[in-house]
Amino acid sequence: MKKIVCENYDEICRVAADIYVKQLSDKPDTVLGLATGSTPIGLYSELVRRYQAGEIDFSRAVSFNLDEYYPIKKSHPQSYDYFMRDNLFDKVNFAKTMLPNGEADDPGVECARYDAELEAAGGIDLMLLGIGLNGHIGFNEPAVSYPLGTYLVDLTQSSLEANSRFFGPDETQPNRALTLGIGGILASKKIILIISGAVKAEIASKLFDGKIHTDVPACLLLLHPDVTLIIDRAANGE
Ligand code: PGA
Repeated sequence: MKKIVCENYDEICRVAADIYVKQLSDKPDTVLGLATGSTPIGLYSELVRRYQAGEIDFSRAVSFNLDEYYPIKKSHPQSYDYFMRDNLFDKVNFAKTMLPNGEADDPGVECARYDAELEAAGGIDLMLLGIGLNGHIGFNEPAVSYPLGTYLVDLTQSSLEANSRFFGPDETQPNRALTLGIGGILASKKIILIISGAVKAEIASKLFDGKIHTDVPACLLLLHPDVTLIIDRAANGE
């Protein structure tokens, strides 16, 4: 795992955006894996800014998101479908964007469809990940075994609490999600992991102590040959 330590969150976003500019210039028909949560928001703003400045073009790129609540309507402001349109898709020019469908009648059929679409696209060239306070990547929650393909997962209390801040008092927070499995993530050619803030320092430290903690899903990234961790000083425990 290559580690880039940044002064602060803004620098993380700029450094990560530079990687996207180079990736899309080298391979305009890149397949991007995209993430939601608070951490990617600044990166997406920076990508929109660079798109508007004519520095990056997504017109031949396609994207696959990591996860989506289940069940949830795409029109729900807390759906990841809505989040992606609001923060990125409606502001740049992707050829095609995909997420697991939180409205699907049969989650098993939907997971198989998503994996088949991803395989047909040739897999992910560049995967973006954040990390949960419990070490999750996508919604692969700490467990004794991790499905390889896309699956329906019961969210842990830690993830529900971390994301409850986004839901209003009258909104029901789904307690399940569809997520790309560990196989789908690790099959990505390149991976960027972004981690910001002192609140993430403890979980991030599990990536640096020379062990694979099997109860920290993000530690499985230590087995991948091309992961770039972009972390700020606060999350790096400085
Ligand atoms: P956050 O979520 O960016 O909102 O902290 C990260 C994650 O859960 O992957």
